[in-house]
Amino acid sequence: MNDKRLVVLISGRGSNLEAILAAGLPVAAVLSNRADASGLAIARKHGIPAEAVPHTDHPDRESFDAAMMQRIDVWQPDLVVLAGYMRILTGHFVQHYHGRLINIHPSLLPSYPGLRTHARALEDGVKVHGCTVHFVTPALDHGPIIVQGAVPVLAHDSETGLAARVLRAEHRIYPQAIRWFLQGRLHIDPHGRVELSAATRSEQSVLIPDD
Ligand code: GAR
Repeated sequence: MNDKRLVVLISGRGSNLEAILAAGLPVAAVLSNRADASGLAIARKHGIPAEAVPHTDHPDRESFDAAMMQRIDVWQPDLVVLAGYMRILTGHFVQHYHGRLINIHPSLLPSYPGLRTHARALEDGVKVHGCTVHFVTPALDHGPIIVQGAVPVLAHDSETGLAARVLRAEHRIYPQAIRWFLQGRLHIDPHGRVELSAATRSEQSVLIPDD
């Protein structure tokens, strides 16, 4: 696995990036569309090249994504990892990284794509919420699901409390999904669903108990 290379894209805090680094995964570089993303400092602290490619320097989505692709491809990554990367991607970008582009989203997809996922889950009174790691397709927060972390919603839960518990689940499932990918244990079946090798299936986490 050590001959593999990840490029991680972020837009802000970088706590998922930190979990990926703590898991010892081979991050070659971290790129952000925002120069003020605190995750860039986390990468540098670990001695990992970190660079901002500000989207505000580009007139449109296409030229920004082209610039980002150029910076990513310098590293020839096996996998591009979106970790709180808050940009809508162009079809060209998604196509270019087809099969090697994954994302984490703070809901049990296909429920609650988009923003304010925890608030919307609380408004709806769902009893189970969570997070999803998935391959990226052109549709926003959509694509073959690799793993989900289910988090019980508690009576009188607050948005911050629920968000914190989901984030802890994110930090568990994202490094695991990346490791599976790098070990070649994930395959897409003819229906476009992720197939896990038998050994991987038994490790798959479905419920993250409240801790
Ligand atoms: C995470 O909760 C991640 O799931 C979410 O942004 C947060 C980034 O936190 N991503 C999305 O909403 C993507 N649709 P982090 O910067 O601390 O990892």
